[in-house]
Amino acid sequence: MNPRLGVNIDHVATLRQARAGHEPEPAAAALMAQGAGADGITVHLRGDRRHIQERDLHILKEVLAVPLNVECAATAEALAAVNPVKPAWVTLVPESREELTTQGGLDAVFLQGMLRSILRELRAADIRTSLFLDPVLDQIKMAAKLEADAVELNTGLYADLPMTADPSAELSRLRDAARMASRLGLRVLAGHGLSLSNVGPVAAIPEVEELNIGHSIIGRAVLIGLERAVAEMRTAIAGSRA
Ligand code: PXP
Repeated sequence: MNPRLGVNIDHVATLRQARAGHEPEPAAAALMAQGAGADGITVHLRGDRRHIQERDLHILKEVLAVPLNVECAATAEALAAVNPVKPAWVTLVPESREELTTQGGLDAVFLQGMLRSILRELRAADIRTSLFLDPVLDQIKMAAKLEADAVELNTGLYADLPMTADPSAELSRLRDAARMASRLGLRVLAGHGLSLSNVGPVAAIPEVEELNIGHSIIGRAVLIGLERAVAEMRTAIAGSRA
């Protein structure tokens, strides 16, 4: 069976926030993605609210038929915003203000005390939990010990390899981590930096149940949709003097 596709729509909100206005509406994008076959919608509520806003979470939870996965930092502030929405999934990610996007996985070994209580709180709220981790076996073992429901393997290092580099070592790390996670009873997701050109080998890892992909899909949508958007504007201009 092929892995499910979770579509991350953060960058629809990035475009909206560029004008601090109403368009494009992330919920409209989420419904289009759902209609096109997305098995889930993912958004990242960042501490600096640079793209997704709290109102987006509430609207998405209301309108989507597929599961909503909210990524957030393991902080009290983030959880206070996310918990009341009761998304199907919460994925805990590391976060720093300076980064352009998530850099690396959580250090679950170092943060185990804090993660244990946050995971307990999420479970009590009937929210399934995932930890975004680098494909490092000690991290995977800790996720199982903390009784997370799933791990999302960070494919960022694999995706960032130069075109000329041999990806086999990074792919082996991902395969080994996926195998270990599955053996420990964790569900296995993967994501970050995946695109049309590099998704194949990750999608082929048998234990990977779901891929979370955002930037490349939204970036491609801008290009694929541009001809139609220009044609629509031409029609609107032409129609104004009819
Ligand atoms: N998974 C996680 C945990 C992420 O933080 C992100 C980026 O927000 C993604 C997947 C999607 O990555 P990309 O936008 O590069 O496809």
